[in-house]
Amino acid sequence: MKLVSHFYDMAPAFWLLLAITGTLAQYTNLPDVAPGLFNASARIEIDNTNIDAAWDALTDFANYPKWNPFVRSSIVVDAANVSLPVQRPVENAQLLLRVQIPALPLPVNENTPDNPLNTQLSYKNITHVQRDLGRLAWELYPNPLMVAERWQALSVNEYGQVLYESREVFSGTLAPVTRALYEKKLQESFQAQAEALKLWLQGGYRP
Ligand SMILES: *[C@@H]1O[C@H](CO)[C@@H](O)[C@H](O)[C@H]1NC(C)=O
Ligand SMILES: *[C@@H]1O[C@H](CO)[C@@H](O)[C@H](O)[C@H]1NC(C)=O
Ligand SMILES: *[C@@H]1O[C@H](CO)[C@@H](O)[C@H](O)[C@H]1NC(C)=O
Repeated sequence: MKLVSHFYDMAPAFWLLLAITGTLAQYTNLPDVAPGLFNASARIEIDNTNIDAAWDALTDFANYPKWNPFVRSSIVVDAANVSLPVQRPVENAQLLLRVQIPALPLPVNENTPDNPLNTQLSYKNITHVQRDLGRLAWELYPNPLMVAERWQALSVNEYGQVLYESREVFSGTLAPVTRALYEKKLQESFQAQAEALKLWLQGGYRP
């Protein structure tokens, strides 16, 4: 009792905030974005790596086939769909993605075949490449029927682990259909990529 009252004395504003919100918000390095109809997300802590290696893995598209069970191929192209000489994300360039929804079972490598029934192609605009903030984003190429922007974020937590987070919010006319068909499978895919990134980095990947 004495301890509790001591804390009340120490930090009244903190306890007031707790009382108002009813919960402690979880730390995130994902930006605030406009709400949509639904989202897919993932969050994972990774030991024995660092931000540089994690950033390198996420932006090294040529190596995606070696570890990524969701995005099997990601090609950076210019406005005329010509592939760029350096296959790293650049703001305002486009991405041609070949994805598996749901993701392939882990682990995968460059020889793992696609499941043709789950293969989809998708065309994106790279909107944010923010190395200093540890953030990357691309959105569905401007489409009147659906808005969907995928963010990925890296940060280091108080235990020195790399925190990887990803989230894509869906809205627009086609969002309800997408939700009915794909919400669960997209969620599984985001989770699978997070687990695969952890395996890849902890397996000793270094840029
Ligand atoms: C994502 O979906 C979850 C679960 O429905 C929800 O609690 C959260 O607010 C959503 N986040 C965003 C940014 O839309
Ligand atoms: C580039 O290719 C994608 C996928 O095939 C297509 O959706 C898009 O319209 C093409 N863009 C241009 C400018 O040709
Ligand atoms: C791509 O995204 C950037 C940043 O949001 C934006 O300025 C640009 O207009 C977009 N390009 C296209 C073709 O939509």
